[in-house]
Amino acid sequence: MKVSVLIIVLALGASYCAFAQDIPTLPGKDLEPVSPESVLPLARVCESCHGQDGQSTRDEVPVIAGKPAAEIVAALEAFYYFERHCPKVDYENAEGAIESRSMCDITNELNQQEALALARYFEAAGNGSGQ
Ligand code: HEC
Repeated sequence: MKVSVLIIVLALGASYCAFAQDIPTLPGKDLEPVSPESVLPLARVCESCHGQDGQSTRDEVPVIAGKPAAEIVAALEAFYYFERHCPKVDYENAEGAIESRSMCDITNELNQQEALALARYFEAAGNGSGQ
């Protein structure tokens, strides 16, 4: 009897995990929305790896220009919660120094409103309207 109860509990637990793929948002979802202009300095950081307007020319860095905003946000949330593999890659930071960082490091410094504004920026950049 005890064993079958245990099996039921384990089975329920396993199916819960299988469906619990709704990844939570980044911190700060209740902050003020970030305007398209004020997200530009952050977009420049992304572009130092992902290329101008997200049109990456590096094999190890994906193109994000024109990707639907919802997919970009979902990817950022997945990196933040270590749900996605995040290899470190070298890039040149704003001071011209070479740094090695991963998407997990990057998303650690973003809030949800910044993530939304960045996602809209790169989605639009795919239509040639990036700045
Ligand atoms: C240090 C370099 C670097 C920086 C800076 C960087 N990224 Fe990335 N990004 C990567 C790499 C490498 C991957 C691929 C990771 C993997 O293997 O899945 C990636 C993946 C992504 C993906 C998933 C794309 C896909 O097709 O699955 C998104 C979205 C993304 N980055 C957005 C951003 C945004 C937005 C910023 C700026 C806040 C940013 N990245 C800054 C290196 C970088």
